[in-house]
Amino acid sequence: MLRQPPRAMMFDAAANSVQAPCRSDRLSDLSEYPFPRLHALLADVTPQANVAPSILTIGEPQNEPPPILTNTLAAAQPLAWAKYPPTAGTPAFRASVAGWLGRRFDLPHGFIDADKTILPVCGTREALYQLAQLVVPAKKAGGRPVVLIPNPFYAVYQGAAVMAGAEPVFLDGTKETGYLPDLDAVPEEVWERTALFYLCTPANPQGAVASLDYLKRALVLARRHGFTIAFDECYGELWHDTPPAGGLDAALALGGDKPLSNLLSFHSLSKRSSAAGLRSGFVVGDPDLIVGFTRLRAYSLAGMPLPVLDAATALWADDAHVAINRAYYRANVDAAQAVLDGRLGFYRPDAGFFLWLDVTGVAANGAEATKRLWREGAIKVLPGAYLTQPHADGHNPGDHYIRIALVQDADNVARSMERLARILT
Ligand SMILES: Cc1ncc(COP(=O)(O)O)c(C=O)c1O
Repeated sequence: MLRQPPRAMMFDAAANSVQAPCRSDRLSDLSEYPFPRLHALLADVTPQANVAPSILTIGEPQNEPPPILTNTLAAAQPLAWAKYPPTAGTPAFRASVAGWLGRRFDLPHGFIDADKTILPVCGTREALYQLAQLVVPAKKAGGRPVVLIPNPFYAVYQGAAVMAGAEPVFLDGTKETGYLPDLDAVPEEVWERTALFYLCTPANPQGAVASLDYLKRALVLARRHGFTIAFDECYGELWHDTPPAGGLDAALALGGDKPLSNLLSFHSLSKRSSAAGLRSGFVVGDPDLIVGFTRLRAYSLAGMPLPVLDAATALWADDAHVAINRAYYRANVDAAQAVLDGRLGFYRPDAGFFLWLDVTGVAANGAEATKRLWREGAIKVLPGAYLTQPHADGHNPGDHYIRIALVQDADNVARSMERLARILT
């Protein structure tokens, strides 16, 4: 019988010389994502408090999604899981979304053509990322195209801009600017090179809501300078007093033959329906952009599974569970306000579930506050600087902030805010 030599003897060093695989130069322009950075910051910090940890970092709902979700998923026909879903979703999904948009933004009949302006996406995160691939050209106005990003920002915007080869230009949203980008601060030369503007309203993390006038101005600028404006509205259902205006309100108010031109609005079930794990959202807007987006997605990303489309169809048709969610987050903000009013720069966010607290005077910076809160109170928060881009001179507008996600219930919020206030005084 022929015997094979032992495996180790077969190693041929020359044939197996290893050169590291090349990779995109652009990746090195991306800083570490906020959550691994936080993990590294707290790696050597052990909570001393004898209490259950309070994790207030990630904006992930902690309350159960409505039974509509689980019931619809459970009712799915087994064959629905066997099928590849169409990129454009189902007519029922698009009709349900169009119905919700009509109710939510009080749109006249026919303003939204469900089949031409709505595209399902598996969570808005991937669609926000992919949008840059669609709309960033090689050059604009003779130079490197720009992607405008609010500062602080959702990290995905930066990843999208950098990997699409654009120059990310960060627009501070500070207390002085009403926590939104100052549109007057953008030089004309930058507007001309702008290919895409991500505008998050209600803003993560500051909770600020852009007024209808602001949204109209931003859309007018997009049309004048030939860029796409992406209204990221995933917190738009979690308002506290009045429903925030959205990109579609601006489009309706401006009117015209092509009222949706240059705009895409991103909506998600993740926060609205406590369904971050469902990975379900949609994009609505400019029919030409939707055609391009649909083609690009057919080449790249998976469609939304048919049972998920069915669950999403049912969820967008129901507003009752959203009113319950809204009340849940309002109670959480009330509980935080009862403890923090007048401290740490507390202000009531217009919408959403984040607090953006100023630790000036009580900690050297947000990172130091984060370490103390974890060590002394087993409270995990995110340093503001992990969500902001420093200026060229090194000044970082997020340095003195921490972000807190009020996703636990009101009793837990009250307890953790009392602990937090004791530590940061
Ligand atoms: C500002 C912002 N945009 C978009 C998303 C993405 O949401 P999803 O992909 O769950 O729809 C998030 C999630 O936290 C967010 O904070």
